Amino acid sequence: MNATAQQIANEFDHKGFTISPYANNSRLQLITLHADTVKLFIKQVSPYGLQAIEYKPFLRFKVADILNKLTNNQLGEFLLGTIKNRETGAFLLQYEASQEQIADNDFKVILSTAISHLIGVPNFDSMYGKFYARFSVNNTDNSDSYLRQPHRRMELHNDGTYVSERTDWVIMQKMAEKNMEGGDSLLLHVDDWQQLDQFYRHPLAKEDIQWMSPASKNVNYKTHHPVFFEEDEQGRPKMLYIDQFCEPLNMRQGQYLHDIGESLEAEANTFNVRVPTGSLLVVNNHCWLHGRDKFIAHQGLHRELLRQRGAFYENAKSD
Ligand SMILES: [Fe+2]
Repeated sequence: MNATAQQIANEFDHKGFTISPYANNSRLQLITLHADTVKLFIKQVSPYGLQAIEYKPFLRFKVADILNKLTNNQLGEFLLGTIKNRETGAFLLQYEASQEQIADNDFKVILSTAISHLIGVPNFDSMYGKFYARFSVNNTDNSDSYLRQPHRRMELHNDGTYVSERTDWVIMQKMAEKNMEGGDSLLLHVDDWQQLDQFYRHPLAKEDIQWMSPASKNVNYKTHHPVFFEEDEQGRPKMLYIDQFCEPLNMRQGQYLHDIGESLEAEANTFNVRVPTGSLLVVNNHCWLHGRDKFIAHQGLHRELLRQRGAFYENAKSD
């Protein structure tokens, strides 16, 4: 663990949860909710239920507050601090739970809702029509993007390139899986991309690019922003890039976007994360790129995922 991450971990006495650096990459913080925290959370949110949480937006903050109070108000501060800290910016949240609890889909949605509302406000997901989206990956697919296609690698990208809402963070939760081999999440921190400078110093780094999306996304407008759309307080670049949904309008842009994709896919600092069923992988969307490794073909292959994407509180508003 680097010094900053260690300092953050030391500030918390881990009431109701523990923190450790992820084995493959110490930027990623592994958070484990203790069995008692999970048990009490399920008990205390049971009067509400998922339908009420979907119908009444303020209940989403209520379940977040319940979870936070169970950790002596420490979990929210730690999660937000981790996601906003450029050195870390990502966590894998798992929990001690029975098979029955892990199989309970409503519990998993409510848990990710609590987590999302501790770090901000989720955007409306046009693909699914709610503040979250659930979708499946199966052995065969005829959809219009690589999201549900299992037998190829989904290249490294940022989310939210083609929507007007700000996408500060992304939650990726594993709801279920069967007959799964491969398909790990892939992560690369922008500062670990060895050719970052070459592309950030490029004349096109700050030029507006046009971004679109296929029909399944239900977004009927295009957006315009540079790949390196903003800098943090220290002047370090934040990224918004995805290979599938950019629309270069001339040869220079086409070449530049192509070369970024080639460089990212060749990057040796990319690492794999296996997300256990029920767990959540949460990343700062502007300093981490994410993707997915390919799956080994299997007739019975099935995976269900939940995603939430949103903004920090201070950035949460509709356009
Ligand atoms: Fe994504």
